[in-house]
Amino acid sequence: MHINDLFRLDGEVAIVTGGAQGLGEQMCIGLAEAGASVVVADCNLEKAQKVAEYIRDLGGLSEAIEVDVTKRVQVEAMVQKTLERFGKIDILVACAGIGQWMKAEEMPEEDWKRVLDVNLNGVFFACQAVGREMIKRRKGSIITISSMSGIIVNTPQAQAHYNASKAAVIMLTKSLASEWAPYNVRVNTIAPGYMETQLVVDLLKQYPEYAELWKKLTPMGRLGRPEEIKGPCVFLASPASSYITGSVLVMDGGYTIW
Ligand SMILES: NC(=O)c1ccc[n+]([C@@H]2O[C@H](COP(=O)([O-])OP(=O)(O)OC[C@H]3O[C@@H](n4cnc5c(N)ncnc54)[C@H](O)[C@@H]3O)[C@@H](O)[C@H]2O)c1
Repeated sequence: MHINDLFRLDGEVAIVTGGAQGLGEQMCIGLAEAGASVVVADCNLEKAQKVAEYIRDLGGLSEAIEVDVTKRVQVEAMVQKTLERFGKIDILVACAGIGQWMKAEEMPEEDWKRVLDVNLNGVFFACQAVGREMIKRRKGSIITISSMSGIIVNTPQAQAHYNASKAAVIMLTKSLASEWAPYNVRVNTIAPGYMETQLVVDLLKQYPEYAELWKKLTPMGRLGRPEEIKGPCVFLASPASSYITGSVLVMDGGYTIW
């Protein structure tokens, strides 16, 4: 295949959970620019519809679907609606996730469970429901969104539940890659460092001084721009990465080097 075609996704169908804003929104746009039809799946339907509209204005095909990824029935309905609308699923990006800062010794049970529920159970439910369809067709690329927090412990903020959930996503990704490789279904994860999205802006409201500290801890000396995830996402979704499965693509401005 010519190098210009390796990154194209014309005729492919993608679902992006958490696609309504931040990194998910940018990946929806990137996949659409590469030629894919994109289902913007999110619990915030209004915002998801705006992203789908934006893609249609660009000339692409896109639909918004409301889903809470912690509810298995809703995740399965998301898959059925996608199949009814587009007939197949080639790409899944499991991006929906939440963050919170809280000391471990003070953490209520609900907060621990909520972060694990969205960040780990939600990713598993989406991978399982979409994976079943991909296995039938012997074709698929799944991209989970973990974090550098699944590899290192962030400082100075406390977020044991978030870190544990992201480490689990990395091992879940490798496990699924191992189980589904015989079916030509690849499963990889992108592990971002600090990216300037709403999630991070909201967290920084508590401690604005952390932004400068994080930059000092990052070899590239800056936070990531949300649109910088488009390239890694399209690379892992496309034939450009056809022999890559079970990999952790770290995009953190070098944070994990130090
Ligand atoms: N921003 C960062 O610095 C950073 C770094 C590493 C990893 N990540 C991960 O990237 C992913 C996206 O983060 P972001 O910064 O774009 O966050 P964001 O808060 O801007 O966007 C998250 C999206 O997920 C949706 N969502 C949340 N819970 C959901 C649920 N139960 N069901 C369906 N949708 C749900 C939200 O409505 C929102 O649209 C998360 O998994 C996050 O942990 C972010």
